Amino acid sequence: MYGIGVGPGDPELIPIKAVRILEEVDVIFSASSSKNDHSLALDIVSRYIPETTPCVLLSFPMTMNRKKAEESWVRHARTVIEEIEKGKSAAFLTLGDPLTYSTFGYLLKRIEMIAPHIKVEVVPGITSYQAAAAATRTVLVEGEESLLLLSGAKGGDHLRRLSELSDNIVFLKAYKHIKDIVASLKETGRMESSLAVSRCGFDDQKVIYNLEELLNNKPLYWTLIISKRSST
Ligand SMILES: C[S@@+](CC[C@H](N)C(=O)[O-])C[C@H]1O[C@@H](n2cnc3c(N)ncnc32)[C@H](O)[C@@H]1O
Repeated sequence: MYGIGVGPGDPELIPIKAVRILEEVDVIFSASSSKNDHSLALDIVSRYIPETTPCVLLSFPMTMNRKKAEESWVRHARTVIEEIEKGKSAAFLTLGDPLTYSTFGYLLKRIEMIAPHIKVEVVPGITSYQAAAAATRTVLVEGEESLLLLSGAKGGDHLRRLSELSDNIVFLKAYKHIKDIVASLKETGRMESSLAVSRCGFDDQKVIYNLEELLNNKPLYWTLIISKRSST
């Protein structure tokens, strides 16, 4: 079993090792939201997958309901285990890195719990925020600076609580609660030195330097914010 990070969107930003595994495995799994049956991760790497390799979409609900989520993690862990126990090799695709705010992390723990004999290898991927830093030539950290990675899924409270602890901050999941995230950036004096990148690595990539713009045009799910304490 392999957990594969396919990077942020550009099919060339994927490890050579991941490409080799995708060419060799018997079956490929990828997450889709329960709202649709589409996998962006699969689109990114489709050029590396042999036509004859079966690709299976596993639908994970985008929910804060822990019980519902747990049910899908266990069910899909069993689906993957079943294939492995038939003697097959399998890869599970993840956008960005598989161990960074990823469905794969939940799946991995259930597989290890239910079938500890299965050997799982994780191939790291380039994260969305590394790609966004590169796209905007933003130094993430230098010298003695620190970097804090936050989820904006519930708004800006993590930043309000932790702002003083870190020079630089990255918000992933900066979409649904964008108003509160922007408010928290203002409150902590970070607005001027923040930028947002949406759909990084895709043809329609957008960089937003004035975050006020996000208040009028609600950002897409694929949006992150990089916030420096001050520009040097
Ligand atoms: C569930 S997290 C997945 C993070 C991913 N595993 C990684 O390593 O970057 C989803 C969030 O990552 C960010 N994200 C992922 N891909 C992105 C992209 N291509 N452009 C901008 N943000 C992206 C967005 O903030 C999105 O809401």
